[in-house]
Amino acid sequence: MSLRVARKSISDVASVKLQREELWTESKLRNLIHAKLGDKVLFVVSNREPYMHVLDEATGAVHCIRPASGVVTAIHPILCACGGTWIAHGGGDADRKFVNSKDKLGVPPNDDRYILKRVWLSKQEEDGYYYGFSNEGLWPLCHNTHTRPIFRQEDWEIYKQVNRKFCDSLLEELPATSPFIFIQDYHFTLLGKMIKEKRPDAKVALFWHIPWPTPEAFQICPYQKDILDGMLGCDLIGFHVQNHCNNFLDTANRLLESRVDTEKFSVIRLEKETFVRAYPISVKSHVGAPALERDTSLEMERLRKEFNLQDMVVGVGVDRIDYTKGIVERIHAIDRFFEKYPKYRGKVVFVQLASPSRTHIKRYHDLISEIDELVEKKNWKYMEGSWKPILYLKRHFSADEIAPFYAMADFCIVSSLHDGMNLVAKEYVSEKRDNRGALILSQFTGAARELVDAILINSYSTEEFADSIFQAVEMPVEEQARRMESMRMIVAENNIYRWAANIITDLTALKNV
Ligand code: F6P
Repeated sequence: MSLRVARKSISDVASVKLQREELWTESKLRNLIHAKLGDKVLFVVSNREPYMHVLDEATGAVHCIRPASGVVTAIHPILCACGGTWIAHGGGDADRKFVNSKDKLGVPPNDDRYILKRVWLSKQEEDGYYYGFSNEGLWPLCHNTHTRPIFRQEDWEIYKQVNRKFCDSLLEELPATSPFIFIQDYHFTLLGKMIKEKRPDAKVALFWHIPWPTPEAFQICPYQKDILDGMLGCDLIGFHVQNHCNNFLDTANRLLESRVDTEKFSVIRLEKETFVRAYPISVKSHVGAPALERDTSLEMERLRKEFNLQDMVVGVGVDRIDYTKGIVERIHAIDRFFEKYPKYRGKVVFVQLASPSRTHIKRYHDLISEIDELVEKKNWKYMEGSWKPILYLKRHFSADEIAPFYAMADFCIVSSLHDGMNLVAKEYVSEKRDNRGALILSQFTGAARELVDAILINSYSTEEFADSIFQAVEMPVEEQARRMESMRMIVAENNIYRWAANIITDLTALKNV
């Protein structure tokens, strides 16, 4: 099987090279989808919604925000390109005020490119399905970060109920003939099978945005069979990298009564065939874009003044506060960098944009305090006059607010301990229109397979990590340009439109079994 996988990877690389003729754009994707789907609309289901209406308690104003989420970054441009309906949890505290009687609204606000249908969850449902089973169970199960998964029977029961609730909400929307449904992530492992029971004519794909573990790791989940069975209700399952596909095929092979076809990369269970493929997710990419949508230079100037960054070498990190992102390891490496290379004290500032996430889970709550304390301690250790090594900005940042930070940063750090892909790495590269800057990237991210011109690190090795910061800061401009240009081309060629085109093409090519 390993040999076949190796052969397939080689032939995939070859076919990608052959296809590298022109860049995929929004309009090219729109044409492809119209050609493949005709009048049929696309249905997307995810937990996280692309727009959230949240109440600012201090002012009483309602803000419409775009959540910090890989799913939102990736799927939103696709639905903007081709329309459709996106069904997601209405998680904003003011969300109910902005929907019609069918719980729907047009988005983006004042542009109405597609429909967002909000599904309401009670506190108890959110607790059991989202915080509990999805994020205390499946999330640590799939990430090698030594955080122990917690499986509670009551969470599992609620997870099943919520999958059913989303299924009912989706079924209400489906047209009479063969709809196309695109499910996102580990929150909905049971949905594929539930949909097929009611609508066997539907074509259903699931994209798994996080890593898939080895069978040895997965088998500790008490509900392993139901989960695999639910997922194998889908026609197509996508992962970021071939390694996760291999792990999934191995898992199905070992833990479920099924047959794995290593020629076709599919699993056959109870006469139903499910294809398993790698689709490395991406961003829109600004390479080849006709003009800047927004000039960031004034914003950069303003930020430099506001945060005393004039004449500083600036590094940036942009993360949800999650233990998988290696933020603690990053701070230790920054500490070691200033210890080992004291000439950079007073000259380098690392800006960490950190958006609080899943805060009702103890592990996340504790992590927030741990990082607060660590930043305070390290800043105190090195601060001189108005200079301090780490500028820690802890709140939600919109994409427009993040762009000037990327643009001004001389280097960016992505130090995940394990990550399916990591779109921050690709966003940073995409934003560096002047080919300046260096990317320090954890070898444990899916992105490290593509962005081989980054400075690749083992985030657990503080010494190596500190030296990589030194390497980034010292990197000659010509080397920055050479590496950045090559990474920008890779992101441009494999942008989010190509990702969507590949999945839609494969899904529409499947014959219903
Ligand atoms: O990328 C993995 C993922 O869980 C996405 O599914 C999700 O949108 C993102 O991380 C952010 O997490 P959450 O939606 O729980 O805030």
